[in-house]
Amino acid sequence: MQIRRINQGFNFDKYPTFKQDIDPKQRAWIEVKGKAIETNVRQLRTKLSENCQFMAVVKADGYGHDAKVVSDYAIKGGASQLGVATLNEGIKLRSFGVKKPILVLGNLYTKRDLIISFKNDLMPTISSIRECLICNNIGKHFGLKFSLHLKVDTGMSRLGFESNKFVEQFEKIKFFENVSIEGIYSHLSSADEDNALDPKSITQLQRLKFNELLNQINLYRKNEIKIHLANSAGMLLNKDFHFHMVRVGLSMYGYSPLAKIDENLLLKPALFLKVKVAFIRIIEQGVSVSYGGKFVSSRKTKLAVLSIGYADGVPRNLSGKINVIHNNKLYPQVGSITMDQMMVDITGSKEIRIGSTMVLLGSDGDKTISPLEWARKSNTIPWEILCSFKNRLPRVQVD
Ligand SMILES: Cc1ncc(COP(=O)(O)O)c(C=O)c1O
Repeated sequence: MQIRRINQGFNFDKYPTFKQDIDPKQRAWIEVKGKAIETNVRQLRTKLSENCQFMAVVKADGYGHDAKVVSDYAIKGGASQLGVATLNEGIKLRSFGVKKPILVLGNLYTKRDLIISFKNDLMPTISSIRECLICNNIGKHFGLKFSLHLKVDTGMSRLGFESNKFVEQFEKIKFFENVSIEGIYSHLSSADEDNALDPKSITQLQRLKFNELLNQINLYRKNEIKIHLANSAGMLLNKDFHFHMVRVGLSMYGYSPLAKIDENLLLKPALFLKVKVAFIRIIEQGVSVSYGGKFVSSRKTKLAVLSIGYADGVPRNLSGKINVIHNNKLYPQVGSITMDQMMVDITGSKEIRIGSTMVLLGSDGDKTISPLEWARKSNTIPWEILCSFKNRLPRVQVD
C-alpha cells in the first residue's frame, strides 16, 4: 500500500543518469554572491590613496569561492590586476578569458614553468638573479620583454631577494634587456596583529625597511613600476601602506582581518554554506550520538542528519561547538562531525523536514554565522576555513 503510493505518478524512465544531471543543491553546496565581491571591491577602493590600484587575490580558487566568479566580479568592482598562487591557477583564468594582468605570487623556478608563464602572459614573482636570468633568456628567445615583479623579503622570510643584497642585485637586473620590471613588492607578516600601528611593531619595521630599500635604488621608470606591500590588513591600517597597488584577499570576500575597522566600511560576506537535511530521527533520553559517544541526549531529542562532514571541509574539531540556522533560528550541532555527515538537535522544530535547507555559514533572517567564528572556535584563521572547502561542494553562483 505504502509502496504503491510512493510509486504513483513517478516516471522512472524520465530520470537522468549522468553526473551533470545531479542538482548541485542535492546535498551540500556553497553559494557565491558575486555582487557582494563587486560591492566590497568598490567600497575598499574608496579607502585607497589616490591612483592606488587594487589587485584582487584570487588564489586557492578565489579563497574557495570560485576563482572565475570572483575574478569577474572583482574586475567589475574595479580591480585592475589579479593575484594567483600557481601557474595552473593563472592558466585557468586565462582560459576563462580573463585579460587583466595576472601576477603569480608563488615561486616559478624552472625554465619550463617560466616559459609556460610567459606564453600565458602571467607575470612571475622573482626572488633571485638566477630566476631573472632565465626570464631574460626566455624574453631574448622570443624577441620580447618578459614582464615580471621583483619581490624583496622585509621580514616574512618566505620568498623574495634578501633585503641586504637587493639594492646591488637590482642595479644589475635593471640592465637586463629582455625583462620588464612591472612591479617591486614585499609581503607583511603581521599586519593583522593588534600592535601593528605601534612604531616598534614588525609591521612598521617592515614598512620602514621597504621604504629604505626603495629610496636606495635608482627607480628608473618611476611611474610604470608598481610598488606594493599591503594585504587586506595592511590596506586597512592606513595609507602609508598603499604605495601604487594593494593586494587584497580576505576583506574582498567580506571579512576584516582587523579587530577594528572603519564603521562606514560594510563588508558583505560572499559565501554561504548550505546543506540539506537527509534524515530525521527521534532518540530517547540517554542515547549516544555519533562516533565515540561524545554526546548523550539529556532528554527525548529530535535529530536532523545533515549531509556534510569533514571530507567537505568542515573542521572536525568544531564538533559540538557550532550552530546551524533554519528560518532565523539557531540549532546546535551535536556529537562528532563525521566524514560526510553531522547531526543537529532540532527538538521543538516542526518545520524542519527531510529535504529542508539549513545554513552553516552566512545569514538567514537576522542570524549570521561567520568563518571568523568558526576560526576562533577551531583555533585557526579564517583564511584556512575558507580554503578548506573541497570540490565535493558545488559552487553555485547566486545574484
Ligand atoms: C603575497 C600575498 N599578497 C596578498 C595576499 C592577500 O592577503 P589577505 O587575504 O590577507 O588580503 C596574500 C595572501 O595570503 C599573499 O600571499
